[in-house]
Amino acid sequence: MAHKIAVIGGDGIGPEVVAEALKVVRAAGVELETTDFDLGGARYLADGTVLPDDVLDELRAFDAILLGAVGTPEVPPGVIERGLLLKMRFALDQFVNQRPFLLPEKDIDFIVIRENTEGTYAGEGGFLRKGTPQEIATQGSVNTRHGVERVVRYAFELAQSRPRKHLTLVHKTNVLTFSGDLWQRTFDDVAAEFPDVTTAYNHVDAACIYFVQDPQRYDVIVTDNLFGDILTDLGGAVSGGIGFASSGNLDPTRQAPSMFEPVHGSAPDIAGQAKANPIAAILSAALMLDLLGEGDAAERIRKACASATDLTASTPEIGDAVVAAL
Ligand code: NAD
Ligand code: IPM
Ligand code: MN
Repeated sequence: MAHKIAVIGGDGIGPEVVAEALKVVRAAGVELETTDFDLGGARYLADGTVLPDDVLDELRAFDAILLGAVGTPEVPPGVIERGLLLKMRFALDQFVNQRPFLLPEKDIDFIVIRENTEGTYAGEGGFLRKGTPQEIATQGSVNTRHGVERVVRYAFELAQSRPRKHLTLVHKTNVLTFSGDLWQRTFDDVAAEFPDVTTAYNHVDAACIYFVQDPQRYDVIVTDNLFGDILTDLGGAVSGGIGFASSGNLDPTRQAPSMFEPVHGSAPDIAGQAKANPIAAILSAALMLDLLGEGDAAERIRKACASATDLTASTPEIGDAVVAAL
């Protein structure tokens, strides 16, 4: 039976890289029944649509969602990012953002588990006295015991399933003494359930040093939404480039479909020039296949990607090279 996939190509390089991901998945012999959703900045500029609730409900019926990238400089910041991407992550309760980084020639092999529904992303805050010299803007960080515990437990389970069985909490407990304290206590409580998993803690600023100078130390990392956002662009940069960084927005309870997308954005600076590296999108599709029970095809795609590394090639040529390697 064909897997039912909702496809949101989105803006900029999004549609370019998603086309290659679909080409590769089909070449790997996996049957997909895809439905395209015209959403993103371009659609918003055309008719004001971001993500209506009935479209969100339609998305619930799919086995998974594959997204390229959304957001464009012609639309004010946040309209699409919050109204489309975060709305999906939150409404579908995709509380795990799983971002793997692999560069075998440098012994880099770690996964960042980013909390995906809370923190500064939750939307708490607002303006007071807007437009006056006394203007106040607040943007709070929401951290619930429930939200932190479920993502920390997921990270422990993932670490336990890997050979090194090592989990690092990254936060800023030396300054964020409320949210950091909740994260650390929750981490310590859940750790007691996983005596075979060794643990470490890094402040996020120090983690930036280790990402650049010694990324080999990491196995699994768990962190909050904003730290995870920033660290995973850095993770991409130190493990081959942002064009290789894949991600899955997961609802591990499987009540709603999970969403798979590259870590990168719509890259307006290179859009429409066939310069984008599609490997991040292809590897995101491989993560999708893992979830769909197509682990063999996913593994074959990962192997094929590892051998297709001529980045002077155009976007479709890189896709073709992966297909040829399959
Ligand atoms: P970006 O990730 O789009 O680009 C940052 C840099 O990385 C650019 O120089 C770009 O050319 C390069 N780059 C990105 N992907 C690449 C690829 N596949 N191959 C080669 N080079 C690549 O970040 P940005 O410029 O800050 O954001 C542009 C827009 O994308 C914004 O509207 C932002 O909100 C949005 N965005 C969307 C997503 C998403 O949809 N998941 C993720 C991040 C940013
Ligand atoms: C990402 C992106 C998004 C985020 C934006 C576009 C909302 O940067 O997926 O990393 O901050 O989560
Ligand atoms: Mn990001």
